Amino acid sequence: MMNIRKLRKEECVGDINYNPVVIDGQDKHVESDFFIKNRDEINGMVKDRGCVILKGFGIDSVEKYEKIFQDLGINLATEYRPGIAPRVSKSASGKSFSSTEASRYMSITPHNEMAYTNYRPSIVAFWCQLAPTKYGETPLFDCSKIDSKWFSPTIKMKRTFTKDKTAFDSNGNTDAGGSTWTGSFGTDDKHLVNKYCDDIGMNYEWFPGDKLVTTIETKQIIDGYLQLQTPLYGKDVYYYMRDRFPDRFDNEEYNKIVESESFAPPIECDVNLNREQVYEFMDSVFAASVMPKWSTGDVWIIDNIKCGHARMNVVGERSIVASLANFIDIRD
Ligand SMILES: [Fe+2]
Repeated sequence: MMNIRKLRKEECVGDINYNPVVIDGQDKHVESDFFIKNRDEINGMVKDRGCVILKGFGIDSVEKYEKIFQDLGINLATEYRPGIAPRVSKSASGKSFSSTEASRYMSITPHNEMAYTNYRPSIVAFWCQLAPTKYGETPLFDCSKIDSKWFSPTIKMKRTFTKDKTAFDSNGNTDAGGSTWTGSFGTDDKHLVNKYCDDIGMNYEWFPGDKLVTTIETKQIIDGYLQLQTPLYGKDVYYYMRDRFPDRFDNEEYNKIVESESFAPPIECDVNLNREQVYEFMDSVFAASVMPKWSTGDVWIIDNIKCGHARMNVVGERSIVASLANFIDIRD
């Protein structure tokens, strides 16, 4: 028997404009085959509602977290090419990462994971290893409710990779992702980069100085769900976050990162919104959102097409582990 409920007001910051399903283990003993027995129902809820939040299941190790996905028949992947977020591996299996190594002062603005490539995870998962003492929320967005009037069905993107790390790769010890082609493609073999680009329908061109430029045209709206790419729309999105959440982002550190434009790696896209349009669009994004507070042990299972996510500023300790699963080629 599953205890299914909605998020409670006290479990969230601000209004609840999107309702993920909460399955509450109520900190009781849960049979070891709970997730196997309820596999179809849980996967069905992820598909229908975009996100399932598991609370009170006593998940206190990365092994227990990864076992849930094995039991649910969800394939956690080691794949993260050509990843943007600088990440550090968190498990022996290589299937769990630090959610991001980006500056804690920054807003990771709303996005669907890997929406800049054709081969992307249909499921994104998080495990809260250690709840933040303050802030550090991961807002969720219902992509069916966001106004997509500014966007065409496809988006063109051009990305420049360097050989050396940039200001964006703030942590020098990351295992994956980032602005360099070696980190992002996980190899220093250009032939393997070219082969992978061919596989995912990405065009590539090499320039002197080990510079790589890729271009891709990919779907921006999938079955009515707008795929959020907000980090790529430029500074105005970051000004919006500062104006909407001044207590979180109106500070010297945030402004410094935004003004130096080291908030995202160099990707240009053919979405050109002026500031007023960005603000109107972002209002519609946040009108379809919920901002749950993390509790240690929480596990989130997110449909990456239907539900976008973001990260607020972080104060103090916080450890969120992230995984990508069930990769799909959205050209199929
Ligand atoms: Fe993300």
